[in-house]
Amino acid sequence: MQFATKVIHAGVEPDPSTGAIMTPIFQTSTYVQAAPGDHKGYEYARTQNPTRTALETNLAALENGTDAICFSSGLAAQDACIKLLQSGDEILSVNDLYGGSYRQMVRVYGPWGLKSRYIDMYDASKVEAAIGPDTKMIWIETPTNPMLNIVDIEAVTAVARRRGILTVVDNTFASPYLQNPLDLGADIVLHSATKYIGGHSDVVHGCLIVKNAELAQRLRFLQNASGAVPGPQDCFLVLRGIKTLHLRVQRACENAEVIARYLAAHPKVSKVFWPGFEQHPNHAIAKKQMRGFGAMVSFDLKDNSLEAANRVLSGTHLFSLAESLGGVESLIGHPASMTHASIPREERLKVGLTDSLIRLSVGVEDVRDLVADLEACL
Ligand SMILES: Cc1ncc(COP(=O)(O)O)c(C=O)c1O
Repeated sequence: MQFATKVIHAGVEPDPSTGAIMTPIFQTSTYVQAAPGDHKGYEYARTQNPTRTALETNLAALENGTDAICFSSGLAAQDACIKLLQSGDEILSVNDLYGGSYRQMVRVYGPWGLKSRYIDMYDASKVEAAIGPDTKMIWIETPTNPMLNIVDIEAVTAVARRRGILTVVDNTFASPYLQNPLDLGADIVLHSATKYIGGHSDVVHGCLIVKNAELAQRLRFLQNASGAVPGPQDCFLVLRGIKTLHLRVQRACENAEVIARYLAAHPKVSKVFWPGFEQHPNHAIAKKQMRGFGAMVSFDLKDNSLEAANRVLSGTHLFSLAESLGGVESLIGHPASMTHASIPREERLKVGLTDSLIRLSVGVEDVRDLVADLEACL
């Protein structure tokens, strides 16, 4: 099945009792058994829920996996991945990881004995040398948030596989429409489905997708035993959002290209970060592993004072100043004080995340209006 067909049909059957074309919201906590153990595959709703099952089947298909496991947020999904490790194990990750992912690794799991190291993974040949005796997981985010760096998934996962190290790819920024990390050798794909997958800024949700039965079983155990499961209404909203994933991401990517090129030519802009530029350091890898360059664009101003950035951040009308990304509406954000505030300033500056960096999540509006909005405040 092609992607555009999968988003609409995978995992979704008309409801057998009514013929309803939309998967019902099974708002129930438990299921009646005819006799002890004689049930229809559903016992208790933390463990299974039919709305969640439909969504999990759909997500597994979108990422070419065998199993998807859904969580109440992207960070709850990350939490389950980390619980595959033991105290003393190390995660090796990118040095401009999403701030919330970094915070969980360092501040929640650090005191429990998890070690984490953040390196420049953009030259894949450096990754092998960085692996230490305790490295048990490599955590890739690509494109990264907010610097839009690209990691060569195939090259890094090949190194990891040789060394028996699990790889997780946070695919939130690309979405399954643009990139399928399991096909490139990753063990686990993570999404904050809050973003492109949900796509309408109305739900917080996370998922993991795998194509290994043993890993799926371990993650399902953690999902049930730790309990951070999504409610059926949230699963319904995500499943509904997915039906237009391909259309939304395609339009958002087209808009982002126009905006990235407009900003690059603007006299007040010093730098634009977007992997579609031929001069982006990993443009060739983006071209190889993605089917489009994404709809996130970051930029810095020539006047790199906080005041200048603030004028832009509070001057737009169509780009709403808000955290998050991947919805139909365009957002503007200030990573240093918003999404990445939990990363120490000196660490942020090392990767180019300056106080004046501005991040755009380009939506699906008419791009002429979006450009006019930026033009007016620049
Ligand atoms: C790349 C990335 N991964 C993970 C997360 C966490 O997801 P959630 O907010 O759904 O917990 C985010 C949230 O912004 C993100 O941007």
